[in-house]
Amino acid sequence: MKNVFTADALKGRKALVFGASRGLGLAAAEQLAAMGADVVLLARSEERLHTAAEALMERYGVQATSEVADLTDEAGLAAALSRHVDTDILVTNCGGPPLGPFTETPLEEWDRAYRQIVRAVVQATQALLPHMAGRGFGRVVMITSRTVRHPLPRMSITNSLRKALVGIAETITDEFGEKGITANLVCPGLTRTERMLEVAAMRAEREGRSQEDVMAELLRSVAAGRPAEPWEIAAAVGFLATEAAGYMQAQCLVVDGGRKLKC
Ligand SMILES: NC(=O)c1ccc[n+]([C@@H]2O[C@H](COP(=O)([O-])OP(=O)(O)OC[C@H]3O[C@@H](n4cnc5c(N)ncnc54)[C@H](OP(=O)(O)O)[C@@H]3O)[C@@H](O)[C@H]2O)c1
Repeated sequence: MKNVFTADALKGRKALVFGASRGLGLAAAEQLAAMGADVVLLARSEERLHTAAEALMERYGVQATSEVADLTDEAGLAAALSRHVDTDILVTNCGGPPLGPFTETPLEEWDRAYRQIVRAVVQATQALLPHMAGRGFGRVVMITSRTVRHPLPRMSITNSLRKALVGIAETITDEFGEKGITANLVCPGLTRTERMLEVAAMRAEREGRSQEDVMAELLRSVAAGRPAEPWEIAAAVGFLATEAAGYMQAQCLVVDGGRKLKC
């Protein structure tokens, strides 16, 4: 049996995690560190990254460093990637795109979201896959959204662009599957992160309702009756990063608490 979720399941592996200064990216980095991987946290907020990396080193005894980079900045991202071509596990994640009615979403928002959601993943995988292939092992785990499978109202960008990652995972699988590389998506539903709370607060203010009321509405269709905790999404990332997940290819692992059937 292969060890999964033990403190040494990923020992000797190096993980690069995008969008890792907080929320799901940071939770994923912590899960990988807890499984023994050295981790590199990438995002824009230097201070948060530094604090998080220090905490992971202290808690798990792994190497944890950070890269300050904006996923939409090609040159900055290229420089960061060039310092980590020995990455075994790439976890892609990013900020959530703006919400709103389809016809009121400016083209500039689509362009910016494309750079973060799709183009950064293409750039990173193009840079790292040949090195992973040379070493005969690689894991690409893309944190996306349940909207890949179940689109939501007022989320035209996320409903549309995130599906491109399925095509990217399928293509990586096709071209690199025989080299010990897998590419899969983790698709979270509502998860208790700072962003979730910010979005609920903004909506409550816009609609003149309480935040509790907004949360109750968001959870009405969730069978589990609660948001996920970030570590529940990170657990799926951790599993996909293991050797034991080596036969899972181009899958969308939906972690959304299930759906109430009568909504
Ligand atoms: N939470 C949920 O309920 C939920 C549900 C489904 C899907 N998702 C999706 O999952 C992803 C993560 O969600 P979350 O709740 O953890 O969001 P979050 O708390 O806003 O975290 C986003 C992370 O991405 C980083 N980031 C944002 N823009 C970036 C950029 N241009 N370049 C580099 N890093 C950038 C942020 O750090 P810096 O600001 O320091 O750069 C932060 O670390 C989002 O795409 C979200 O839409 C979330």
